[in-house]
Amino acid sequence: MNLVKRCVFGISILSLASLNVQCKGEKKEEVTQEAKATDSVSIVKTEYGKTEKGVQIDRYTLKNQKGMEVNIITYGGIITSLKVPNKAGKSEEVVIGFNSLEQYQKANPYFGALIGRYGNRIAKGKFTLDGKQYSLAINNEPNALHGGPEGFHRAVWTAEEAKGGDSASLKLKYVSKDMEEGYPGNLTVFVTYTLNKDNTLDVSYDATTDKKTVVNLTQHSYFNLSADFTKPILDHVITIDSDKLVPVDATLIPTGKLTDVTNTPFDFRKPTTVGARINNATDDQLKKGLGYDHCWVLNNQDKGNRFAASAYDPTSGRLLEVYTDQPGIQFYTGNFLDGTLPMRNGGTYAHRTGFCLETQHYPDSPNQKDFPTTVLSPGENYKTKTSFKFSVK
Ligand code: GLA
Repeated sequence: MNLVKRCVFGISILSLASLNVQCKGEKKEEVTQEAKATDSVSIVKTEYGKTEKGVQIDRYTLKNQKGMEVNIITYGGIITSLKVPNKAGKSEEVVIGFNSLEQYQKANPYFGALIGRYGNRIAKGKFTLDGKQYSLAINNEPNALHGGPEGFHRAVWTAEEAKGGDSASLKLKYVSKDMEEGYPGNLTVFVTYTLNKDNTLDVSYDATTDKKTVVNLTQHSYFNLSADFTKPILDHVITIDSDKLVPVDATLIPTGKLTDVTNTPFDFRKPTTVGARINNATDDQLKKGLGYDHCWVLNNQDKGNRFAASAYDPTSGRLLEVYTDQPGIQFYTGNFLDGTLPMRNGGTYAHRTGFCLETQHYPDSPNQKDFPTTVLSPGENYKTKTSFKFSVK
């Protein structure tokens, strides 16, 4: 490759600072820069704002060379932006978000946020461990939802950056104090976001406690792969590798049974659009959820990290595949979005303009003896991983 070509290559993938070095520098240096250029994923920190209490919040931008860029803030570990290419190679925004920290603090139905200590609902905000009953705030009448009003989605996390050749990571840490939001034990939590060169975002969760507690962590991004947030997500084609649903009562608490999805609007084993059955007025579970707002029992629970679900938008060609080691996935179709929350560039988020695929344990597990346990004891490590893989087809 001659020098001119090297410089052109540099323009498309290196910062201007590196370009100067590359174009003016010695041949040896050029080679080093080029090697970096082919495999590096960058991470850059900027100031994002100050909380109501005056705490500094930072934003980290992770970017690879295949057109994927993710912005994460230390408030709530929120993914404020995620851009990926469409089939024409154009990178565009595919997650719902706000354009100010103020709005994230004011009214946020968990857009992009980390959820804990307990993702999803706990019936009547009560559970018992070793004979002792714990009471949580009722923030979703008559139940407790997503770790309480001051859950992890509103916590200020500390951050550490790490760079590998083919990836860049942001390791967030939060120490949740004993009895914070009603949960026992000092819980030390790490959530690591890793952007890889192949357009996969890994989310790894680690936690330890000094007293027996319950933990169910998840990520609550709302996707719209069309990048057009004025359009509902009804045309997205969904696949969920699940034979069984966790049916719920009218307050969205599991009945305790797991039911077969065959011949129901909850069978997504064959790719099916969101809209094909969502308004089926005779389905009792759809009525209760006001659409899809349910946890599916994922297949192959003994297989560790495996394919869980996918979403495909035929217009843009974007495909999102979700891999996880968790037993369940909550598929939520933005049924509570009601045109009151502001979009980034004007307008408001209307009904069903985003969907969530929240990997997790089943709702209300602390009160359901037949569900996989969410209890974490001192000396144990809570360790789980979910990957969001983007491509086009
Ligand atoms: C979860 C719940 C939904 C709703 C959203 C946030 O996905 O299951 O019922 O509360 O969070 O609005």
